[in-house]
Amino acid sequence: MSFDEMDVESIWMDGEFVEWDEAQIHVLTHGLHYGTGVFEGIRCYDTAKGPAIFRWDEHIERLYDSAKPYDMEIPYDKEELTEATLELIRREGLESCYIRPIAYYGYGMLGLNPSDCDEEVAIAAWPWGAYLGEDALENGVDVAISSWRKYASSQIPTNAKTTGTYINSVLASLEAESNGYVEAIVLNKEGNVAEGPGENLFIVRDGELYTPGLAESILDGITRQSVIEIAEDLGYTVHDDATISRGELYTADELFFTGTAAEVTPIRSVDDNQIGSGTKGPITDQIQTKFFEIVEEQPEEYEHWFMPVEQ
Ligand SMILES: Cc1ncc(COP(=O)(O)O)c(C=O)c1O
Repeated sequence: MSFDEMDVESIWMDGEFVEWDEAQIHVLTHGLHYGTGVFEGIRCYDTAKGPAIFRWDEHIERLYDSAKPYDMEIPYDKEELTEATLELIRREGLESCYIRPIAYYGYGMLGLNPSDCDEEVAIAAWPWGAYLGEDALENGVDVAISSWRKYASSQIPTNAKTTGTYINSVLASLEAESNGYVEAIVLNKEGNVAEGPGENLFIVRDGELYTPGLAESILDGITRQSVIEIAEDLGYTVHDDATISRGELYTADELFFTGTAAEVTPIRSVDDNQIGSGTKGPITDQIQTKFFEIVEEQPEEYEHWFMPVEQ
């Protein structure tokens, strides 16, 4: 669904709610030219206990952490951003939605050093279903290894969610789609598996789970963290510091992506090599089922992962 078809009227921008169409910036905004922005993608689920934001604290912490390497002082504290987000969801009457906070260097000067530009902040929210489609969640996606490598953490901090760096993900996604695949897997500078353009990756082998470690140039995904905990709670051993070679993908018993947008999406083939039985594998199914049970029901053991919208 495009934004034009959506029924959301306002966006929080620099301290106030403005009409959706009025949420505009100057064309000489620093962040537009040099990608000097940091952002988050967060889901609010319509749980059995009411609408609740999934892992808000972790996401908002990551937003402030992302700002650090760029000397960006987000001019609102965590409580202010929390209140603004809750108020936005309530006034728009959204039950389940995707939340996009963004902080960026604004209008001031266009030298590379952004210190003459004020930091600006906006928060938008809108309904958003399954990122790769409902069929993807059920039957898995066909993916290809991208010819674009993930930038190394010695070049740009990979644990920061920075707007400019997403051009790497855009290239990988465009290439995958134009070659007939649903999504890409990006290798790091060393040629080992990093992640998807907007997802982390898990591999299942001999009943155990492996996911690339943080030094493999990946984003420290919050769904990744959640899935590690879910898998361990289900009794699985998770190797969360793995180095995974390209070839290991082809021979994996199961593969799946995790991410706020992609949730838990099975991968059924890589470069036309069938993974397992070519559909959602049994361990992936168990973890995905548990994940959706948690976000739909907000069970007591995982209640601390949620922030209720109605207080
Ligand atoms: C490059 C990249 N890796 C991984 C993820 C998954 O992170 P999370 O689970 O926090 O959404 C995302 C999505 O934000 C991403 O953009």
